[in-house]
Amino acid sequence: MLLNYIVLLLAIFTLSNAQGDSKVSGKGKYRGRGGQQSSLQSNSSKNSTAFSNSKDRQLINKIINGSSATKAQYPFIVQLFTRSSSATPFAFSCTGSLISNQWVLTAAHCVTDSNRNFYNPSNFRVAAGNTQLIQGSAINSQYQVASMGTFGYKANPSLDLALLKLKTTVPASISTPARFYTGPAVPSLPVTVAGFGVTKFGSSVPSNVLLQTRVDISQSSNCSAFNSDWTSNTGPQLCQESYNGDDSCQGDSGGPLVTNVGGQNVIVGITNDGGNKDPRAASGCGYNIIAYYARLGYYASAISKVIGVPLSTLTVS
Ligand SMILES: *[C@@H]1O[C@H](CO)[C@@H](O)[C@H](O)[C@H]1NC(C)=O
Ligand SMILES: *[C@@H]1O[C@H](CO)[C@@H](O)[C@H](O)[C@H]1NC(C)=O
Ligand SMILES: *[C@@H]1O[C@H](CO)[C@@H](O)[C@H](O)[C@H]1NC(C)=O
Ligand SMILES: *[C@@H]1O[C@H](CO)[C@@H](O)[C@H](O)[C@H]1NC(C)=O
Repeated sequence: MLLNYIVLLLAIFTLSNAQGDSKVSGKGKYRGRGGQQSSLQSNSSKNSTAFSNSKDRQLINKIINGSSATKAQYPFIVQLFTRSSSATPFAFSCTGSLISNQWVLTAAHCVTDSNRNFYNPSNFRVAAGNTQLIQGSAINSQYQVASMGTFGYKANPSLDLALLKLKTTVPASISTPARFYTGPAVPSLPVTVAGFGVTKFGSSVPSNVLLQTRVDISQSSNCSAFNSDWTSNTGPQLCQESYNGDDSCQGDSGGPLVTNVGGQNVIVGITNDGGNKDPRAASGCGYNIIAYYARLGYYASAISKVIGVPLSTLTVS
């Protein structure tokens, strides 16, 4: 999803385990791609042209059948706004999470174009710690993005996770960073997805308030059938199937999938994409959906190095 590249400003490191082998299954709408690799790729000069990420257009997630969530539950929640150029207004595009006082985690497809190249960081704003959607002229004065990076997304679209460094730090009075859950992501783990996405598939209007809904981690044969890069929930992506219609949808992309540890929500995954298991169905979110999330247990040590927060502080299991 991007065009040009940027300046390499972060340490480059290699993830221990990144790999995808890939063939496209032809079954779902998921692009299986194989890839190599992963160092943090970061670049930011470019020229952002229109916000042309078809993946996100299809799926700007939003929570289906959700209930409103409080700041106490999601003190780390952020809203990401994008504009196609400095001459156009910002619009809500994705959800994200603050993970240190200066770093935000979201989906890579939220900050890149259809060629998976980064948009210009000046075309983003980040609102931190709000459960009400920021609107209108207030958006422009939200946090600015200094730089961004991914962990091999350019080569492998199943590594759909991006780190955004803000130009200034976020005070704890505004928002406090999330920790990551690195324990086993098994179907019995109770998880909830949160975001400002649309509440109905096909809608382009995000939710005015942060919503959340319980979902189920899956490891059924559908997971690999609909995403040839997925082999198990121990890799870079988690699989979720909706049996009752609760789901994430467009605009929830980049938002957190959490579990509760000791009374606090910790992040298990970041919303990537999803679709209806019935290719004839009109709705891409809700009933009969399968969805995938970037699993933070896979990226935790790489993220820890980039943001300079010790793994023991960043994670819980
Ligand atoms: C960043 O952009 C420069 C200049 O376009 C390019 O040479 C370099 O390969 C890019 N770096 C990465 C990590 O993509
Ligand atoms: C960058 O932006 C300029 C001015 O809008 C445009 O003419 C040029 O084609 C763009 N370059 C790329 C690679 O998109
Ligand atoms: C796969 O999805 C289909 C369609 O929702 C469902 O009927 C089937 O039970 C699922 N398979 C498994 C193994 O869960
Ligand atoms: C919405 O959630 C309620 C309560 O969890 C559930 O009973 C109901 O089936 C859901 N409705 C839809 C359309 O998913």
